[in-house]
Amino acid sequence: MDKWSVLYSGIFLFLLLNIPSALAASPTPESVYIPFLQCLSNFTHSSDQVSKIVFAQTNSSFSSVLQDYIRNARFNTTSTTKPLLVVTPLQEPHVQGAVICAKNIGIQLKIRSGGHDYEGISYVSDQPFIILDMFHLRNITVDVKNEVAVVQAGATLGELYYRIWETSKVHGFPAGVCPTVGVGGHLSGGGYGNMLRKFGLSVDNVIDAKIVDVNGKILDKGSMGEDLFWAIKGGGGASFGVILSYTVNLVAVPEIVTVFKVIKTLDENQNVTEFVFQWQQVAPHTDDRLFMRLLLQPVSSKVVKGKKTIRATVMALFVGGADEVVTLMGKEFPVLGLKKENCSEMSWIDSVLWWGNFDNATKPDALLDRNVNSASFLKRKSDYVQKPIQKDELEGIWKEMIELGKTGFVFNPYGGKMNEISSDATPFPHRVGNLFKIQYSVNWDEPGVDVENNFLSQARKLYSYMTPFVSNSPRSAFLNYRDLDIGTNSFGKNSYEEGHVYGVMYFNDNFERLVKIKTAVDPDNFFRNEQSIPTHPVIAGSESGAGKLLHSSLRWKLMVKMILLLIVGLFI
Ligand SMILES: Cc1cc2nc3c(=O)[nH]c(=O)nc-3n(C[C@H](O)[C@H](O)[C@H](O)COP(=O)(O)OP(=O)(O)OC[C@H]3O[C@@H](n4cnc5c(N)ncnc54)[C@H](O)[C@@H]3O)c2cc1C
Ligand SMILES: *[C@@H]1O[C@H](CO)[C@@H](O)[C@H](O)[C@H]1NC(C)=O
Ligand SMILES: *[C@@H]1O[C@H](CO)[C@@H](O)[C@H](O)[C@H]1NC(C)=O
Ligand SMILES: *[C@@H]1O[C@H](CO)[C@@H](O)[C@H](O)[C@H]1NC(C)=O
Ligand SMILES: *[C@@H]1O[C@H](CO)[C@@H](O)[C@H](O)[C@H]1NC(C)=O
Ligand SMILES: *[C@@H]1O[C@H](CO)[C@@H](O)[C@H](O)[C@H]1NC(C)=O
Ligand SMILES: *[C@@H]1O[C@H](CO)[C@@H](O)[C@H](O)[C@H]1NC(C)=O
Ligand SMILES: *[C@@H]1O[C@H](CO)[C@@H](O)[C@H](O)[C@H]1NC(C)=O
Repeated sequence: MDKWSVLYSGIFLFLLLNIPSALAASPTPESVYIPFLQCLSNFTHSSDQVSKIVFAQTNSSFSSVLQDYIRNARFNTTSTTKPLLVVTPLQEPHVQGAVICAKNIGIQLKIRSGGHDYEGISYVSDQPFIILDMFHLRNITVDVKNEVAVVQAGATLGELYYRIWETSKVHGFPAGVCPTVGVGGHLSGGGYGNMLRKFGLSVDNVIDAKIVDVNGKILDKGSMGEDLFWAIKGGGGASFGVILSYTVNLVAVPEIVTVFKVIKTLDENQNVTEFVFQWQQVAPHTDDRLFMRLLLQPVSSKVVKGKKTIRATVMALFVGGADEVVTLMGKEFPVLGLKKENCSEMSWIDSVLWWGNFDNATKPDALLDRNVNSASFLKRKSDYVQKPIQKDELEGIWKEMIELGKTGFVFNPYGGKMNEISSDATPFPHRVGNLFKIQYSVNWDEPGVDVENNFLSQARKLYSYMTPFVSNSPRSAFLNYRDLDIGTNSFGKNSYEEGHVYGVMYFNDNFERLVKIKTAVDPDNFFRNEQSIPTHPVIAGSESGAGKLLHSSLRWKLMVKMILLLIVGLFI
């Protein structure tokens, strides 16, 4: 061989090694639709059925199917990347098929249940992808005798609450306050609501689950084993498989519960600083039937025109009667000034509607409405507070909030049941020692990149300002308050290190166990997203992610072609 042949062979070899991953990165709607449909038809009753559950980009319903479960207008623009296909399974075998077929074709699968992910990662990606949309799988079976319910992943929290109420007036379930949130994302990410001090997180009340694993097998608690069952109770379902359903324990609620709302404003001489300071002493330590959420917002002053001030709102649920909570607050929190006339007694299901900001005459069937969300642009972030913030520090925070202009806080008190569950009982680690969780919250209605950058940057500035007052090493975050600012994964050589950055913030010491489980159940990292649990580089072997996904028979064909070319090249 002369030096030219050596050079040519070198180039061919280079191409040989690189073409598979180049091909894997560029499937098109055309190249995916037919093979996917053909493959999926093996898992449906008829080819007629398969064409009814797969929406291609050219389908006239594509946009509406895609948009039905978008809850953040930031990811609803013409420049937002679109899936090549949306698959909407009607039955469990369709989910098995979707996993197997996406894996065979070598394309990323994004799983969506309620679509409430704050960063839209259930329906947006910078890689070509298919959405597996679970909204049809929404059956709920309530068994009051055994005090359990089986709820499919595509059901909403509102539907779950409604079906429980329909069957029993003295049972409920501890989960989020927004009724359109999906069970699949909410429970697999932990899930909390206004009964967390009494009953813990949603996942503390999960007793079984059904998932489709990376091989397309349906597993329950018994067949998936303790580790995987532990992982999908707060570790994020999307790293491990597709959640089909959870079995949950119902909790006992009294026939009458109490809600109240108290509002104080800084510039009306209502001593907001003292109020918030005392809230920190009371809310995380009081009777565990009482959940007092505190909202802090910069608002326009009613006293001085054109000036901003801080408004503090307490929204509370007491799982009991009004007299009792008025007496309790009189003793523990006199600054609140709570009187009986400030309280409303109602059924638990009406309290769900009250927390959902429905008009006070709304009937429970409003919880079945899936189209109630307004479509704002929004950004959320989270933090945990472990020691009370001092009064002068609070005053500094008010000043910063007023200067920034729009970003507010929601303080969610912990304590109660949260202190009784060990931090490794589930992947969710933020238990004893945490006084409250902060949600940073900013919504806006105007489209545009500049507007967006302005609001993102003010949320980030406030987050940075809060550094001295919140948890550190690691600075903790709540998975369900998805925030891509804290790190993302690019699935390259440093996937584990990248995953470690956000992983320890979401899961603290539970991160390593999640990595071990991930590596065991999905070593090729098929189930991945911007913030999924990475595989362990040593245990999993050197090759990771996308490259491995290319269908092996396709890779063989390519190799044979390249070798033939190489031989021809050597002879001319
Ligand atoms: C208005 C609003 C109110 C909220 N209130 C609360 C609250 O009170 N308490 C609280 O804890 N959180 C709350 N959240 C956050 C919410 O719990 C999370 O966004 C949750 O992940 C949403 O679940 P989803 O199924 O609707 O979301 P999706 O966007 O569908 O999914 C979220 C994540 O879960 C994955 N996933 C979804 N379904 C499955 C499945 N079947 N199998 C495997 N992975 C799956 C997705 O791939 C994605 O990574 C709220 C969010 C919004 C927008
Ligand atoms: C689907 O069925 C066809 C034959 O009908 C078969 O050739 C193909 O391998 C099957 N694919 C899968 C993923 O089962
Ligand atoms: C769009 O997709 C749906 C579901 O796959 C199918 O029933 C319908 O016939 C398609 N419509 C068009 C115009 O392609
Ligand atoms: C998305 O955009 C469509 C119009 O293009 C609109 O009808 C829908 O309400 C929007 N949804 C969200 C969540 O912004
Ligand atoms: C939902 O329940 C109905 C009625 O029991 C049943 O016919 C259907 O197959 C169930 N769907 C799924 C996806 O389990
Ligand atoms: C706020 O209340 C505290 C104690 O209740 C008091 O010492 C302080 O002077 C009050 N501040 C204002 C501005 O009223
Ligand atoms: C409680 O109700 C009374 C009487 O309606 C009202 O004057 C007072 O402002 C309310 N207090 C709070 C804290 O909302
Ligand atoms: C509901 O609204 C009506 C009229 O505004 C009011 O009289 C009633 O007290 C309210 N009920 C509750 C529970 O707030």
